Amino acid sequence: MWAYVNGAFVPDRDAAVSVHDRGFRYGDGVFDTLRVYDGRPFLIDEHVGRLVASSKTLGIGGLPPGDALSALIREVITRNGFGNALVRTTVTRGVSDGWEPDPTARPSVVVVGRPFSGYPAHLYRDGASIVVTTIRIPASPPDPVLKSLNRLAQIQAKREAMARGADEAVLCTDAGLVAEGSVSNVFCVDAGRIITPPASVGLLPGITRGVVIDLARREGLACDETPFGLEDLQGADEVFLTSTGMEVLPVTRVDGRPIGLGRPGPIASALRRLYHVRVRENG
Ligand code: PDD
Repeated sequence: MWAYVNGAFVPDRDAAVSVHDRGFRYGDGVFDTLRVYDGRPFLIDEHVGRLVASSKTLGIGGLPPGDALSALIREVITRNGFGNALVRTTVTRGVSDGWEPDPTARPSVVVVGRPFSGYPAHLYRDGASIVVTTIRIPASPPDPVLKSLNRLAQIQAKREAMARGADEAVLCTDAGLVAEGSVSNVFCVDAGRIITPPASVGLLPGITRGVVIDLARREGLACDETPFGLEDLQGADEVFLTSTGMEVLPVTRVDGRPIGLGRPGPIASALRRLYHVRVRENG
């Protein structure tokens, strides 16, 4: 497999950045993961746009322009002959001797990929289980809207989910509002109304989340960005998660208790079908 590292395509096993890279030293960078279906990247403009915007917010300059980054991603797909895959792009502030950012440093840009055809089928058939962790979503810094390399709260939350035998962990805010999963966004359905927390709660408003809100509204379903608490999550008729890798994943257990009838619900199933239609329309 081939990877792109700072100006060159190299065999994946040789892909490396300096131990002085600020991404390694301090998590001083951003990343993005996009999905490839049948050799075509899905929503590449949105993914590259988010990466460029996050880099700009952090003041990481000297990046190739968005269309050049897109071309690198496409080149990684082509060189590897990817059919279905995940491609991850990482950008860091580059190398520095110490804590102080070096304004003359060139950013590091890395693009790697791996074959990926989706999460296991049984999760969609039976629904996933989630646990609500006591780990709070960090309000600041870094702003959770940034897809930064700082993922410690989410990693600790994911470890907790794994230890409790669950598929995903949900993090709340300090105020006790549901924010998001460790690597996903959360939706509830209550009496036919779909709700998901607004970005203002403090979460990464995922690209899949945006697509699913759009699909729901086009279908004439009520879908609102509204803050909600744990009781709403636990008492919902349906719960589902969204992310690039998961697409629309129904949840049937929260903290070991069944959601609704304990089976994937009709709205999550419908949105998953519509999502697949959108994927097929791509390219
Ligand atoms: N991350 N919230 C968090 C904290 C995430 O890490 C992700 C996904 C999402 C969903 O975002 P999107 O729909 O744009 O994939 C929400 C990606 C998959 C990653 O970790 O690379």
